[in-house]
Amino acid sequence: MLPIKRALVTVVLPLIVLVTVFYFGVLWSSGRYLYKYIHEFGRTEIFDSGAIIEKKQEEEKIPHLLLGQPNRVLEKLNQGKSGKECHIKILIWRKPGEEQRELGLDKWQKATCRNRISCNIEILYSNILEDIPMSDIVVIMPGPFKNFKWSKLLKARPPGQQWVLYSRESPVHDPQFAPPLALTTENPYNFTATFRSDSDQCITWGFYYPGHPSVPAAKRMDWTKGKTKLMTWVASRCNSLGWERTKFVKEIQKFLPVDIYGKCGPLECRKKDKACRKTLSAYKFYLSLENSECKEYFTEKVWNNGFDNNMIPIVYGAPKEDYMRLAPPHSFIQLAAFETMEEFVEYIHLLDRNHTLYNEYFHWKAKGRWTPGPGRRTNLSPAGLCTIVKELKKNIFHPEKSWRFKNPDFHKWWEQTCSGREELLGVRINVDEPEYMESKVEEDDE
Ligand SMILES: *[C@@H]1O[C@H](CO)[C@@H](O)[C@H](O)[C@H]1NC(C)=O
Ligand SMILES: *[C@@H]1O[C@H](CO)[C@@H](O)[C@H](O)[C@H]1NC(C)=O
Repeated sequence: MLPIKRALVTVVLPLIVLVTVFYFGVLWSSGRYLYKYIHEFGRTEIFDSGAIIEKKQEEEKIPHLLLGQPNRVLEKLNQGKSGKECHIKILIWRKPGEEQRELGLDKWQKATCRNRISCNIEILYSNILEDIPMSDIVVIMPGPFKNFKWSKLLKARPPGQQWVLYSRESPVHDPQFAPPLALTTENPYNFTATFRSDSDQCITWGFYYPGHPSVPAAKRMDWTKGKTKLMTWVASRCNSLGWERTKFVKEIQKFLPVDIYGKCGPLECRKKDKACRKTLSAYKFYLSLENSECKEYFTEKVWNNGFDNNMIPIVYGAPKEDYMRLAPPHSFIQLAAFETMEEFVEYIHLLDRNHTLYNEYFHWKAKGRWTPGPGRRTNLSPAGLCTIVKELKKNIFHPEKSWRFKNPDFHKWWEQTCSGREELLGVRINVDEPEYMESKVEEDDE
């Protein structure tokens, strides 16, 4: 009996301890590896094709470029580094709505940053000029613009204050974001978060990733199944902005049956209702007509409305090359690719008759998938604002990589990227007197 007991104490027990330690050790390190993988994966996904996978660098030297330039955010971050408590004050230039008042954001509200910047933040929604001088960052974003007077804004801006343009809307929608040239020719913004991929932060509606099939069997499926109707358009804005959208759809209706849902037509389909999805997926084609024709500007109309309901989006908005570069391959039909209405109508009839050709527009699902981008919602959560501070900090240490460095002329970057096309498929579509959105907050502009 005794030798067995001794063996148990001297061999088996230490062995168990050893194995346990080893096991958890491996689990721990592989866990870390897994975390790192997911983290890196997320980064490459957002920034696309691994363009920005940089090693963490010790950031200590401020480049020459910025020496002597006051920077309120940097000052605060340095305070934080030396152990002082600091809050970076972020003013969101917008009259607080009911939602903000409920959250107490009509007064300075502290929030914690968890993304390892040395400060926390303080947020305020306001369009009162007196709140500008005390802020470190001012965020300019779409909203009610009653108090958007550039002369006053520029005067109220103290040195070193960082201005952020945050917009998922197009330049045609928000032309007021460019200051009158008579007042300043300098780029007023230090940072951009917009739908454009050349912004500091890209907040577009969706990304396509090749190599991650969403429906592996897509090529063997019949996507016409359950589809009993031809074409639909869903819209909530009927007056023209940028171009004569409603008039154009009415023109198509002369040749093809188009059911119009929303404010501009007789039918109703609330996106939040499940029944609406079912209604829409009975259509073969979906008119994805953006409210303006600007560089890289195409929205959830293509991604969520078109792809998610298995309709082929018929697109107009961004230039051809942008759709080709950013949307899944052979997943959409470009209106601008046709010379005449006749040609377009004929092509639709062809796809309607020939299921093989129709189904080819869904083959991309066997090759890749799309994921929603942050542009789906205006999302200025505390976490989102902490990320902006972190990105601003990156720009301080690598100004040559920043949007501002590459775009000294804001007008050129923002305004001169929209087309003023006169006609589409032979229909005159330009607007004589554009109606800009003045004071209305439009949360859901279809
Ligand atoms: C931020 O923008 C202002 C206004 O154009 C400019 O004067 C300032 O130098 C910029 N700061 C940085 C750090 O880029
Ligand atoms: C559909 O189009 C394909 C490709 O052009 C063709 O091979 C096929 O014969 C057509 N099918 C019908 C039913 O017309």
